[in-house]
Amino acid sequence: MSAGIDWICAPAGPLHGDVAVPGDKSMSHRAIMLAALADGVSCIDGFLEGEDTLATARAFDLMGVRVDAPSPALRIVQGVGLHGLRTPRGPLDCGNAGTAMRLLAGLLAGQAFDAVLTGDASLSRRPMQRVIEPLSAMGARIASQPGGLPPLEVHGGSPLRGMRHAPVLASAQVKSAILLAGLFAQGETEVRESRPTRDYTERMLAAFGWPVAFEPGRAVLTGGHRLLATDVAIPGDFSSAAFLLVAASLAPGSELVLRGIGLNPRRIGLLAVLRRMGADISEHDPREQGGERVADLVVRHALLRGIDVPTEWVPDMIDEFPALFVAAAAAEGVTLVRGAAELRVKESDRIAVMSAGLRRLGIRVDETADGATIHGGTMHGGEVDSAGDHRCAMAFAVASMVAHGPIRIADCANVATSFPGFAGLAYSLGFDLRPV
Ligand code: S3P
Repeated sequence: MSAGIDWICAPAGPLHGDVAVPGDKSMSHRAIMLAALADGVSCIDGFLEGEDTLATARAFDLMGVRVDAPSPALRIVQGVGLHGLRTPRGPLDCGNAGTAMRLLAGLLAGQAFDAVLTGDASLSRRPMQRVIEPLSAMGARIASQPGGLPPLEVHGGSPLRGMRHAPVLASAQVKSAILLAGLFAQGETEVRESRPTRDYTERMLAAFGWPVAFEPGRAVLTGGHRLLATDVAIPGDFSSAAFLLVAASLAPGSELVLRGIGLNPRRIGLLAVLRRMGADISEHDPREQGGERVADLVVRHALLRGIDVPTEWVPDMIDEFPALFVAAAAAEGVTLVRGAAELRVKESDRIAVMSAGLRRLGIRVDETADGATIHGGTMHGGEVDSAGDHRCAMAFAVASMVAHGPIRIADCANVATSFPGFAGLAYSLGFDLRPV
């Protein structure tokens, strides 16, 4: 991943347009993984052409799975069956993608061969002990760098035992790693969560014909079944739409239509928070697509007020805090974020990066260990650093809707991990965003 792309975002708006956003990242990773392990040929429509999900597809290519891309956002996967993966031709480079590394650790724990999982500088600093520990308890053998850091060496050939696990941390990635190892384990694997997290792994396993029982906060399956190829239709990623929802809320005179956005209840915490802040966002043509709730969202400018973000909503908006920080900075009054320490170990320390950037733009932010108090105010222009974090880069671009001078955002190349084409799309909607 090349660093070195900065953006200059001049004050702009209003925003107008009727657009779709790229496919859901979480679902795209899982669709490739399950299609690869299935018997038969699966078609994935709406696949995210982002660096993160391309890394997952490449990993399976290295393990002998044929993945064709007849057109953008389409993948045809020739499944090799549950035990059909081959020893990878080299290390599996997950790039910037924590989801790829953690889910693959679970999936690879049940193979007969050894594999090495590597990542970029950001991923190499992210904690993997959270998957190593439960997977080891199932019988996996995974070696890491000191402190549970990548690269990971996942040694195959160890029989796995199903187990009951109640992770301390509410994490869909940890839950999914355990469930994917459970496919290869003897007996029953159960995950009980302290707070329910996104359930795409469970839903998609069911769609691929694997018997799995699940409800919010709990999932159970047994090893030894088969995955049957199926077609997967992936909706637009709410986490990508989030930036446009906040931007249009902030820029006076804006009205945007965002088509086909996935509204899985475990993903839309920000929608509830923005509405509580006073946002004008409506849902149209609600429908089901591939078992997921999908709708078109219409967002119009509105004045936002600061709120206390309920801590129980944090897992449902875990990826949306960079966007929320900017909404809070532009809102009237104070916004309080607590119970979100996990933000410190995302693609960057998002509490630190967003707080530092907003301060550079004139906003008072009081950081705490697990959140921040953001005092809404007037933003001026300035230079901010995204720290190579895709979501921080896009969030700072959104600040240009209300800032009184140009914002130069450093290190924006990683936006391609989750929202390829963001800069061009944003420009077409009314942002004044120029890569330099
Ligand atoms: C994801 C789960 C979340 C989220 C990440 C994608 C997933 O991470 O932040 O972007 O696809 O399962 P955690 O489960 O670690 O909170």
